[in-house]
Amino acid sequence: MRCRLLVCLVLLAHAGPPAAVFNFGDSLTDTGNLCADGIPDYLATARPTSATPPAASSSTSSELGLQLLPPSKAKNATFHHGANFSITGATLLDMPFFEARGLEHAVWSSGTLHTQIKWFQDLKPKICSSPQECRDLFRRSLFIVGAFGGNDYGSTLFASRPLPEVHTLVPDVVDSIGRGVERLIAEGAAELVVPGLPPTGCFPLYLSMFPRPPGMYGVRSGCIRDLNTLSWVHNAALQRRIAQLRAEHPGVRLVYADYYTPAIQFVLHAERYGFLKQTPRACCGAPGVGEYNFNLTAKCGDPGAYACDDPSNHWSWDGIHLTEASYGHIAKGWLYGPFADPPILDNKHLG
Ligand SMILES: *[C@@H]1O[C@H](CO)[C@@H](O)[C@H](O)[C@H]1NC(C)=O
Ligand SMILES: *[C@@H]1O[C@H](CO)[C@@H](O)[C@H](O)[C@H]1NC(C)=O
Ligand SMILES: *[C@@H]1O[C@H](CO)[C@@H](O)[C@H](O)[C@H]1NC(C)=O
Repeated sequence: MRCRLLVCLVLLAHAGPPAAVFNFGDSLTDTGNLCADGIPDYLATARPTSATPPAASSSTSSELGLQLLPPSKAKNATFHHGANFSITGATLLDMPFFEARGLEHAVWSSGTLHTQIKWFQDLKPKICSSPQECRDLFRRSLFIVGAFGGNDYGSTLFASRPLPEVHTLVPDVVDSIGRGVERLIAEGAAELVVPGLPPTGCFPLYLSMFPRPPGMYGVRSGCIRDLNTLSWVHNAALQRRIAQLRAEHPGVRLVYADYYTPAIQFVLHAERYGFLKQTPRACCGAPGVGEYNFNLTAKCGDPGAYACDDPSNHWSWDGIHLTEASYGHIAKGWLYGPFADPPILDNKHLG
């Protein structure tokens, strides 16, 4: 069971596939195999009636023409309908930034947002054949930028840096997202979705790696409060930056996609979503610290780890990624509201 969000989202988001989809990000918005197993039922029922029904299972992504391989590896692929540039562990800030802080060993990013944008630019000759054609295509395409930032903060936390130091990264991180969005707009992008960060203090990975004294956990959520504050501060700064960008680029549609609210609701109002009311707990993993079913040396997929019987009643899949059920709820909230500002479907595509 893998988690899929973005392309299911994209398939649903447009009355017919958008001209192209370009995705930049890290593994949190895992676009990997997209809808390789088909669209989950709860999403299928949410599909606008005018949308092209995606063909069954593995042919879905190829019908949409989305390329799942790294551009560098997809030698003979065509990219007229988009490309996925996201890579696991992607950061926003580059190695010199982390080196200057003595953090080079903590970061394992192999491509920042700006590197990914460079790949996109290098790939243009395979996407479109003249500057005019490129701009026309990009104007009709959907660009998904993020979520970014989680690995920048995460690397710093895992290097045991104090939280106030991690907070000092926020302006640089948000500024870097803003510059990425501007570079894409300069290429002709006119519709962009920019996700914020989830409440990392609710994730079994963080709960087991960063134990806090009693009293520093949310009374109702069981989540680490100061880590959720970090996500919250990042998201607030990102939304302010997006508001500025909107003012500067009135012809561009910029959607802020809220990852935080739905995820915290999965914890606080589990029953509303069909999830078990319990301490945040990974479905797939090995028992570790606390009740989180997470153990860094026996993660989902490693020997000793096993999946729960029914992933659909857990919101956390492996302590880091969410379950397909969670992504389904988030996708719906991003498409129709209330978890996106403005909702992705609240646009010209519905006429
Ligand atoms: C595309 O998605 C998959 C799964 O998330 C990822 O492993 C891969 O590295 C992504 N990026 C590229 C450039 O293919
Ligand atoms: C690309 O296409 C050429 C000619 O059709 C073929 O010989 C080659 O093996 C293909 N390369 C890859 C990586 O698929
Ligand atoms: C994590 O898993 C390893 C390997 O199964 C085990 O030896 C270790 O005791 C576990 N750690 C905790 C804290 O449970």
